[in-house]
Formats: sequence, C-alpha cells, structure tokens
Amino acid sequence: AYTAEPFVPDRGGLPALRRAAAECRGCPLHRDATQTVFGAGNKDARVMLVGEQPGDQEDRQGKPFVGPAGRLLDRALEEAGIDPSEAYVTNAVKHFKFTQAEPRKRRIHKAPTLREMTACGPWLAAELAVVEPELIVVLGATAGKALLGSSFRVTRVRGTVLEEDIHGRPERLVPTVHPSSVLRADDREAAYRGLLSDLKVAARVLA
Ligand code: URA
Ligand code: SF4
Repeated sequence: AYTAEPFVPDRGGLPALRRAAAECRGCPLHRDATQTVFGAGNKDARVMLVGEQPGDQEDRQGKPFVGPAGRLLDRALEEAGIDPSEAYVTNAVKHFKFTQAEPRKRRIHKAPTLREMTACGPWLAAELAVVEPELIVVLGATAGKALLGSSFRVTRVRGTVLEEDIHGRPERLVPTVHPSSVLRADDREAAYRGLLSDLKVAARVLA
C-alpha cells in the first residue's frame, strides 16, 4: 500500500518533519507536482487548520493557502477573530494533484483518492503530535474524511464542536466548508457568511 510512514522521522520537531517531507515518495503524487507543500506556522499554535491539498499557487510557492482560497480564508479568520498568523495551516495531502490537457495549459485541481489521503496521513499525524493544537478547524469534506473517516459529512456537522479520537489522541474539532467552495458558490456572499459563522464557533472555543 502507498504510505508516507517510512519517510516520517520520529524526532527533530517541525524542521525535521519539513525536511523529510520534501523527500517523501510515499505515493505517486510527488511525481508530477513541483514540490511538497508542508504545513506552515508555529509549533505553539493553539489552532490547526486542515485543508485538502495544495493548489496551483501553493505548488509553485511551496506554502499552504497562499492562493485565492488562502486569501479568502485569511479574511474570514480575521473577521471571526482568529489571527491567521497565529494558526498552524496544513493540508490532508501534501502534493498538488491535477490534470492538464497539454503541457503549458492550465493545471486543474483533481480530488485526492482515499488511498492518497491514507498514504499522506502519517504527516498530518506527526504535525498533530508536535503542535498539539487545542482545536482543529476542518476545511471541507476531504480534510474531514482524512481525519474522521469516510462517513464524514460536512453539511451535517459544520459549525459544531466535535470531540473525537484521532491517531490515538482526543481532539476537539470544528468542521466547516472549504474556502474554495465559497469562491465557486452561486451565492458567494451567503457561502462566505456560512464560513464566517462556523469560524466564529471556532473562535469561541479559543476565547
Ligand atoms: N486549497 C487547499 O485545500 N489547500 C491549500 O493549501 C490551498 C487551497
Ligand atoms: Fe508523500 Fe503525501 Fe506527497 Fe504522497 S502526497 S508523496 S504521501 S507527501
């Protein structure tokens, strides 16, 4: 089976994890992507935000949530009263998966499979073990399935506080939609208000 497990160091903290993840060959997604996009932020962060996978901009720059979805997320976090610079931000899958009709054409995001999410899981588990956040904000269905299993339904649990065992430790989580889904929504304003109201639930937990 595909797995990142043999690539994950058991000591050295976030710097060692980041260096090792750059060399991960745990599943085939490293082949077409530019680079590993590891999580970013402080090891003392009280809140960890988990997205799906890097997008086009993130793949080029090597940092999570630096493209359009990231800008929207930062705006919503600030408006909800969570300082984006104090959050640890990462993704369920660390390499960009895409389709491309021809070389030099636009690269179109493709959802990771369950196998790829499972393969990449050891990195997320290692990040959780180091950062030990008080709260995990789950951004969308893929992150939710990666953390809570395939029965996760974002519409059912968004904006609520969940307490679940994840990789053997009790975690508190607030799920919400993925910020990209706000950008794609017919009614963007309503979708943004929904994201904001979920993030305010997270802000209350942290207050
Ligand atoms: N979408 C994600 O899920 N993660 C990113 O880092 C960027 C866009
Ligand atoms: Fe490793 Fe995850 Fe990249 Fe697959 S997606 S190669 S498991 S870092």
